[in-house]
Amino acid sequence: MSTDNAIEIEGLTKRFGDLVAVDRIDLTARAGTVLGVLGPNGAGKTTMVRMLATLSRPTAGTARVGGYDIVRDAPEVRSLIGLTGQFAGIDELLTGEENLRFIGRLLGMPTRDAKARARELLAQFNLSDAADKAAKAYSGGMRRRLDLAASLVGRPRILFLDEPTTGLDPRARGELWELVRGLVADGTTVLLTTQYLEEADQLAHEIVVIDQGRTIATGTPTQLKSKIGGQTLRIQPEDHGQLDGLRALVAERFPDLDPIVEAGAITVGVNDDGIMPTLAADLRDRGIALTEFHLGLSSLDEVFLTLTGHRTEADDEAQPEEAAK
Ligand SMILES: Nc1ncnc2c1ncn2[C@@H]1O[C@H](COP(=O)(O)OP(=O)(O)OP(=O)(O)O)[C@@H](O)[C@H]1O
Ligand SMILES: [Mg+2]
Repeated sequence: MSTDNAIEIEGLTKRFGDLVAVDRIDLTARAGTVLGVLGPNGAGKTTMVRMLATLSRPTAGTARVGGYDIVRDAPEVRSLIGLTGQFAGIDELLTGEENLRFIGRLLGMPTRDAKARARELLAQFNLSDAADKAAKAYSGGMRRRLDLAASLVGRPRILFLDEPTTGLDPRARGELWELVRGLVADGTTVLLTTQYLEEADQLAHEIVVIDQGRTIATGTPTQLKSKIGGQTLRIQPEDHGQLDGLRALVAERFPDLDPIVEAGAITVGVNDDGIMPTLAADLRDRGIALTEFHLGLSSLDEVFLTLTGHRTEADDEAQPEEAAK
């Protein structure tokens, strides 16, 4: 394996009975970078991370973490990695400091070193004031920070973060991003799973989009955004009958874009919001009245719509229910 790659995955597969949760995934993460794994609920993100962290055995395929095979060399892999799970792995009854000290002791640190490391991390994560409070009294954001601190006690070179900011408010999310950037600046390699395009865009050097266990796109944030448009424009004509004409107009004026007609509206990824005035003028000239003309940051859902022509699973499932009402 190339020494530049901290993580190398080939054909990694996990089956649960008939369900293929992770389906022949190939990917690599260069040392000292962030690899973002972007996917909706049930895409296979946690299943993949659990295999890489040696908590679950692959059905097929191989992966190397820090040069070690995740099955054959599981103890070596464990000594190199830190894992922050989607569901916080801290003991509610222990204080913040006790949680970190306990992990240090488990890792074989002498009592004094474990205590010093706990204090250091609490300070770094802005939790010193809460060091002696039971973790159950922490807010969601404090808990996430403690959980991240817990995964860093052993100074891992490679860190797996499974949806580290789900459920956090925008400020707490921004703070956690800063912490991750700091770790990467110090040379840590991070594999981060997320449901937020914006998060992958903010942190990742390389993004892999997965759906139903499969890779559906890979690239740098810039490459992906130019494929899907960093922003999404939604246009809905007042008269449904004008939808096809409107689509043709968008396709003709902006041949690089790939407009999709869906739910009575046109959705198109755009990179250059300079097209907005031109398009607005076109629509006015043709007398097309609109109920919606909205430019916003692309969500994961829109990434999916652009890449696969369908929305994420959760939405696909929601639609028949809607229709049945
Ligand atoms: N232990 C298990 N036994 C059976 N099926 C499982 C098991 N773990 C996960 N699955 C299934 O595998 C698929 C992938 O699940 P996984 O938890 O990896 O998704 P995810 O991308 O992490 O989703 P989320 O964003 O909701 O956390 C899902 O269909 C899930 O129901
Ligand atoms: Mg998950």
